[in-house]
Amino acid sequence: MACSPEPQPQVEPIALAELMNTHYALAQDIYDALINGDFVSLHDHATELANPIPVSNLPDAWAPHLDGMRSAAKRLVGEYSTAKAASGFADLATACANCHHMTATTPAIKVYPTPDDTGDIRTHRLRHAWDAAPTATARSIPLTNGYKST
Ligand code: HEC
Repeated sequence: MACSPEPQPQVEPIALAELMNTHYALAQDIYDALINGDFVSLHDHATELANPIPVSNLPDAWAPHLDGMRSAAKRLVGEYSTAKAASGFADLATACANCHHMTATTPAIKVYPTPDDTGDIRTHRLRHAWDAAPTATARSIPLTNGYKST
């Protein structure tokens, strides 16, 4: 069937988890920079994610997905339009999700606790960010793999 996931190839697990955690941290930093309107930091993190993949023994079938992820990151480098950067981030998350779907991976995304509502404006914004974060990170996880948006 066209959309059934392919069998997961054998890869050195520690190196791969490290690589993925770096991808995740960079994608999250890009997302935060976007929300903050911090284009300098967005530029730096996108540049890093666009770099060649520092693991050499990955399966050939992954190459188009890694290329897709890197070129989505590359398009974010030097982007100073909020709207274009936001749609570029969606392209990036799509590239993550496509590969997770192909490899039938459901990354464990850590969910941090809701900040207490103390009524001040800073806490209000933190709670708002907390609400938004899983929405963004969920885009990197294929919906078919069980993430449920609330
Ligand atoms: C080329 C395929 C591919 C691409 C592209 C990809 N991933 Fe992954 N990802 C995987 C695979 C396979 C695993 C499972 C690794 C394992 O077995 O631990 C994984 C695991 C993860 C994990 C869990 C890591 C852990 O601690 O085990 C996270 C987080 C993650 N990916 C985030 C991302 C993000 C964010 C992106 C995009 C910026 C991305 N990935 C792009 C294939 C990919």
